[in-house]
Amino acid sequence: MSARTLGLIGAAAGGVEQIRTSLVEPALARGWRVAVTLTPTAGSWLEDTGERQRIEQVTGLPCRTSPRMPSAPSPHPQIDCYLVCPASANTVAKLALGISDNQALTTVCEAIGARDVPIVVFPRVNAAHTRQPAWNAHIEALRGAGVQLLIGDEYWPLHEPRSSAEKDLPWERILDAVGRVVKPGSSESA
Ligand SMILES: Cc1cc2nc3c(=O)[nH]c(=O)nc-3n(C[C@H](O)[C@H](O)[C@H](O)COP(=O)(O)O)c2cc1C
Repeated sequence: MSARTLGLIGAAAGGVEQIRTSLVEPALARGWRVAVTLTPTAGSWLEDTGERQRIEQVTGLPCRTSPRMPSAPSPHPQIDCYLVCPASANTVAKLALGISDNQALTTVCEAIGARDVPIVVFPRVNAAHTRQPAWNAHIEALRGAGVQLLIGDEYWPLHEPRSSAEKDLPWERILDAVGRVVKPGSSESA
């Protein structure tokens, strides 16, 4: 049996605490296999709450936070689509610049250059993040590389720092966007 594999990358931003129930389990229900990689900070947050272990239980795959040993095989299967969600402002900037100083960035930066699988990014940012002088250039660089950015009011209306009540991410619409960028019939090779 073959299933498409979604490479879910979680950064240390609001909503990451919910990715198992709001992204991983719904993606599994849609027929995806899900391989999760977290940034080191996101990994420490989810380790602290026990969510990292629960993600491993439901996906049947290691939840990666660090590089493999050179002698070890990759613990994840081939990926058919990457979803970076939530992407912090920091992770968006590093992806645009090709900085690969953790496993999550390593895998997506390489995929951006390889251009062989779709990459969807949901930046979970506030208005101040987007006024940082380099932000627009980073967004344009990622767009120019074919990255699908889920930005704008239809996905995430911007709020000033500390000015908004906690908002839920548009989880279903994010997964719908992933479904749209994946070619029918695409499947991983075991
Ligand atoms: C409780 C908490 C919530 C945060 N939420 C966000 C957020 O929603 N978006 C964001 O860009 N940064 C947020 N940050 C800041 C990032 O966690 C910080 O920039 C971190 O270095 C990002 O690391 P990463 O990109 O490697 O995951 C938050 C920090 C804390 C402590």
